[in-house]
Amino acid sequence: MTKELNIGIVGLGTVGSGVIKSIEKNRDYFKNNYDVVFNILGISANSKSKERSFNASNYKWFDNPLDIIDEKNIDTVIELIGGEDGLAYDLAINSLKNDKSFITANKALISKHGEELSILTEKHKNFFGFEASVAGGIPIIKTLKESIILNEIREIYAILNGTSNYILSSMSKLKISFDDALKNAKDKGYAESDPTLDINGEDSAHKLSILNSIIFSEIPSFNSIHIRGIENIELVDHNHSSEFGYNIRLIALSVITDNGVYKEVTPMLVDKDSSLGRVDEANNIIKIIGQESGDVVLEGQGAGEGPTASSVISDLIDCAIGSKLHLFSKSHSELSNNIDKISSGERPYYLRVFLKDQKGSMSSLTKFLSDSNISLDKIIQKDENSNNENKFKPVIMITYPVKKDEIDSLIDILSNSDIVSSEPLHMPILVKG
Ligand SMILES: NC(=O)c1ccc[n+]([C@@H]2O[C@H](COP(=O)([O-])OP(=O)(O)OC[C@H]3O[C@@H](n4cnc5c(N)ncnc54)[C@H](OP(=O)(O)O)[C@@H]3O)[C@@H](O)[C@H]2O)c1
Repeated sequence: MTKELNIGIVGLGTVGSGVIKSIEKNRDYFKNNYDVVFNILGISANSKSKERSFNASNYKWFDNPLDIIDEKNIDTVIELIGGEDGLAYDLAINSLKNDKSFITANKALISKHGEELSILTEKHKNFFGFEASVAGGIPIIKTLKESIILNEIREIYAILNGTSNYILSSMSKLKISFDDALKNAKDKGYAESDPTLDINGEDSAHKLSILNSIIFSEIPSFNSIHIRGIENIELVDHNHSSEFGYNIRLIALSVITDNGVYKEVTPMLVDKDSSLGRVDEANNIIKIIGQESGDVVLEGQGAGEGPTASSVISDLIDCAIGSKLHLFSKSHSELSNNIDKISSGERPYYLRVFLKDQKGSMSSLTKFLSDSNISLDKIIQKDENSNNENKFKPVIMITYPVKKDEIDSLIDILSNSDIVSSEPLHMPILVKG
């Protein structure tokens, strides 16, 4: 028997418009392949009069988005506004309490309120879809929940933010500054007017916390992730990383250690020829290392109207055909509250300082390194790109594997000394890319 889903959509921007156009365009496909019909019974956004890329007058408009939940005939609410609290949160909570199915692309909402959403979804037996919240068009949530979850996953390495990947890859390819790369990203529509959460690593951490909740059966915990962004990376860092055979990428990683799961979002040096090192432009990649499956790599467009809308549609189909999976991998009572910050093991680091061009600076630097128990595998000092009217010259070092605490304490010492200009930059090197 044909299954009909009566939908209300709040948020008609990039993703919301894409979802409506896809539903309009693929009506026959959904009917013929899934025996499903999607009826859009209500739409809402900020401005009724705004020009849209679909004909909004074909649909019933709700001035107050929350009224969509009270519409008896609507059984599925799709939230495509964004934001961890406010309207998005109210829509989610009230939809679930009113026994509506709920679909969203909002990673911040799930990362912050995952526990409450999981409890409510179980209590009210709702469908809750969030495929589009991580890596846009890459079907990672479904793949993890349905196909890979029986494997014991020990490690995950991912590029989850298209804006920062665009900036990093274009800096090294075009030999341009961070600011110029950011401007290009904005001009091409890859960066929003305020790209703070993309650049400072928080967007990637929201997404990583969602993946962790499925892979490691835990309540999403943004606060247990060590986060560093890409703001301090300069062209000189790309040039030297490249000479050593690496690209710089913003990596989100979770690794099982003897003490628990270590989680981090940080710029890293990754082998140029590795799967992660090759990812260019605004693309995303997720590499999962499973006990049984070995390496599984999913790569594709992490954002944009088409890819993201297709993930929302995939949730709609699952909702229509009656998928009964938990919100995360297990029921709420089986999820752990893994919020401890566990330290990483030893890793080699890239370290760049702008060193004062005066007698004795290099020997002071060497002493700081040996006092911190850090030995060097490689060191380069060049005259290029010196800053501050040639009073400081870049010194690039690759360390032997060291603990994160050791490198952090060296950075503190260097930052407080007068032999270097601005704060030194350090990035771990990913040995398995
Ligand atoms: N864009 C992507 O590629 C992408 C990828 C993955 C996930 N996402 C997620 O998808 C969600 C939507 O992103 P988007 O890029 O489509 O955003 P967007 O283009 O900025 O659209 C946001 C929509 O929300 C509406 N809105 C904002 N505040 C509202 C309010 N207080 N009341 C009613 N409506 C309100 C806006 O109304 P008006 O149109 O009237 O201004 C607009 O239609 C976000 O959670 C985002 O993180 C986006």
